[in-house]
Amino acid sequence: MSTTNRLDLVILGATGFTGKHVVNELARIGKNYPDIKWAVAGRNRNKLESVLQDISEKTGDDLSKIEIIIADVEDKISIKDVCCRARVVVNCCGPFVQYGEVVVSAAIDCKTHYVDVSGETQFIDLLEEKYDQSARKAGIYIINACGLSSIPADFGVSFLEQNFGGTLNSVESYLITNFPPRIMVEGRRNGIIRYSSWVSIINRCLLHKNLNKWCLPFPGADSFVVHRTQRHLLATDNKRPVQYKPRLLLKHPKFCSFGLVTYGDPNEGMMDGACFQYEMLGSGWDEGTDVRTTPDKRLVARVSVSGVDPAYVGTAVAIIFSAITIIKEKEKLPPTFVLFILSNEHRIPFDNQ
Ligand SMILES: NC(=O)c1ccc[n+]([C@@H]2O[C@H](COP(=O)([O-])OP(=O)(O)OC[C@H]3O[C@@H](n4cnc5c(N)ncnc54)[C@H](OP(=O)(O)O)[C@@H]3O)[C@@H](O)[C@H]2O)c1
Repeated sequence: MSTTNRLDLVILGATGFTGKHVVNELARIGKNYPDIKWAVAGRNRNKLESVLQDISEKTGDDLSKIEIIIADVEDKISIKDVCCRARVVVNCCGPFVQYGEVVVSAAIDCKTHYVDVSGETQFIDLLEEKYDQSARKAGIYIINACGLSSIPADFGVSFLEQNFGGTLNSVESYLITNFPPRIMVEGRRNGIIRYSSWVSIINRCLLHKNLNKWCLPFPGADSFVVHRTQRHLLATDNKRPVQYKPRLLLKHPKFCSFGLVTYGDPNEGMMDGACFQYEMLGSGWDEGTDVRTTPDKRLVARVSVSGVDPAYVGTAVAIIFSAITIIKEKEKLPPTFVLFILSNEHRIPFDNQ
């Protein structure tokens, strides 16, 4: 199937809460990439038309010429058609355990790169088990979790490692949420989370004190994603893996309680002005120190995601740049077709195309 004359990107699930943000942000960011051709896809033409119209009215950009492609995940042929129209499919159609596999399988058949915002670890595992080899053979990337979960965490560890000045052994990551009081007021008025639910979450979640601050283990996909990156780097570069432990910092317990539910479906504009900060505490060894001894060096890095609705706008920006990176800078990405097998100390590369 030819990959020439394709659209660059197609946003599947463009009518969803995340999908609409992705369309909105792509219309904005796309102005810097006028050569990028894109379309929206979903199962309902009227809804897709309204998304384009609403965003046109809101932003003043005319999106009436953006192509609409009809595809339903219950109809494999329509999904294959949509995947074969683009170089990269941007999948916002979740839950991914339910809807994702058919899209990935079609993307591989069409030799189309695939990015999504899934944080569903069982889905990501399933893809690796079932589709890794065929994706490599097709020479394409299947990249999950390109949203707020889990790009800041993964990049944060990499940033800390690059700036550590020695050998980084482990990272304790604290997610600090900061919401303006307006959000709390509106959140309370709409009954987004009940106090009793918050207490039960705390009871389930091993509340503890660390660095003199109250913390919870963070129940997102960050840890899973960071561990996968570390495992990949061990396999490809024989690099010492960094251990990663995410925590939710209860600096403002009321705000944090709200933070947990913002991964749901907040009202439009609800999260404007909020910000997230990952404070990462790295520990390891200074240059020249024997790594068999107790780690002797600590360094803190701060990764901030802030601005207008960092949860959904941040996620939209992250997935768009993930897709644009594949289109514009593929040569800088790890190769898709070389498989490294770790056998004792030796790595045996072979080309499986
Ligand atoms: N990684 C992150 O940081 C992050 C951030 C935000 C969201 N997410 C994830 O993104 C996913 C979507 O969340 P959301 O809040 O945007 O959900 P949503 O508003 O319910 O949107 C779901 C989308 O899937 C589409 N869809 C459902 N069934 C379909 C079918 N049979 N065929 C074609 N399209 C179908 C819906 O189309 P209709 O409009 O036609 O129903 C809609 O466009 C979730 O899995 C969420 O966890 C991740």
